[in-house]
Amino acid sequence: MDLSLPEFLALSDREKAARVGDRAVLYAQQFDRAQLDALCRLADAARDLHRHPEGRELMGSLLKYRMALNFFVQPSSRTFMSFNTAQAYLGMSRMSVRDVKISSMSKGELLVDSVRTFISYVDLVVMRHGDENAAAAAFWTATRAHRRITLDDGEERPVPIVSGGSGTKQHPTQALLDIYTLQRSLEPVGGLDGKTLLLVGDLARGRTVRSLSYLMRNYTGIELVFAAPERYQMLPDILAFLDAHGIEWRKAHSISEAVAEADAVYMTRIQDEYDDLRGPGHEAAGHDFVFTREHLGRMKPTACLMHPLPKRDEIEPEIDYVDDPRVVYWRQERNGMWMRVAILARLFRVGDRILRAAV
Ligand code: NCD
Repeated sequence: MDLSLPEFLALSDREKAARVGDRAVLYAQQFDRAQLDALCRLADAARDLHRHPEGRELMGSLLKYRMALNFFVQPSSRTFMSFNTAQAYLGMSRMSVRDVKISSMSKGELLVDSVRTFISYVDLVVMRHGDENAAAAAFWTATRAHRRITLDDGEERPVPIVSGGSGTKQHPTQALLDIYTLQRSLEPVGGLDGKTLLLVGDLARGRTVRSLSYLMRNYTGIELVFAAPERYQMLPDILAFLDAHGIEWRKAHSISEAVAEADAVYMTRIQDEYDDLRGPGHEAAGHDFVFTREHLGRMKPTACLMHPLPKRDEIEPEIDYVDDPRVVYWRQERNGMWMRVAILARLFRVGDRILRAAV
């Protein structure tokens, strides 16, 4: 990296994504269609392989003696646990830092110094941080530090950094698992191309819907419908990105208005932990944005209902246990673990071994 940290951070996300390439996972903009399809195939293959003892054995040997650090200083259940599980399935050893109060950051250590310390010991850092630039700063540090990892083919690389959520802006691995879930759910109707997605809730501060919107440029004939009260509507930067890539979008004022035409409904939670940064006090989105059994009744027979979780009251609780294959958010959670196996296997270039063994 020839740039200073401020110079690197000042680049546009697109320029940063181009510099990251396949060495880290920080932005949804890093992924093209071929990569998305390959990751989904790899997640399927890992899933198949894991059903058999020899497959589990092989997978567990791929990243043996590699150490992962899960550095999560914002709350997390699914992302943290699914990365831990994915790392365990690949044979990695694992450490975590979840509380800055008991790390040297509480002594005033700079994030880039902490990261430089981490990468002296570990071969992978998965991080969730409230500062939207933290993962990019960690990546910059990894490219500048002496420590390198050596891949099985002998190539030396900076210690890979994977974002498990960057402030309100990006959650690329969630978007990848959402694509995997959409692809699996919509396979009987020809996959994701040509489909309409209804995104509901806090679209202004929901990093999952932002990253997912970026990935839509890889599909043809997509229409996005954003249903939210105006104060939680999708921000202009994403709308401009969609316009620049010729992706259709419109705003809706309720779920009812668009539920019958949607091929997927993606619910989200109000992100009120960011209330002090921007926006109003704790306020629900309102009843027009709560998914009910009546909505489920009006949804296409081939559509799916997703949620990145955690959820509160934005989906009627009875829907959790209905026997309806369209309700996929609990399966989406499990898909996330397989997608994270695929992401890590790709980062360390051992994906081919999973693909070869799975056939
Ligand atoms: C999301 C997140 O952290 O952005 N959770 C997750 O990773 N599945 C969504 C949320 O917190 O609302």
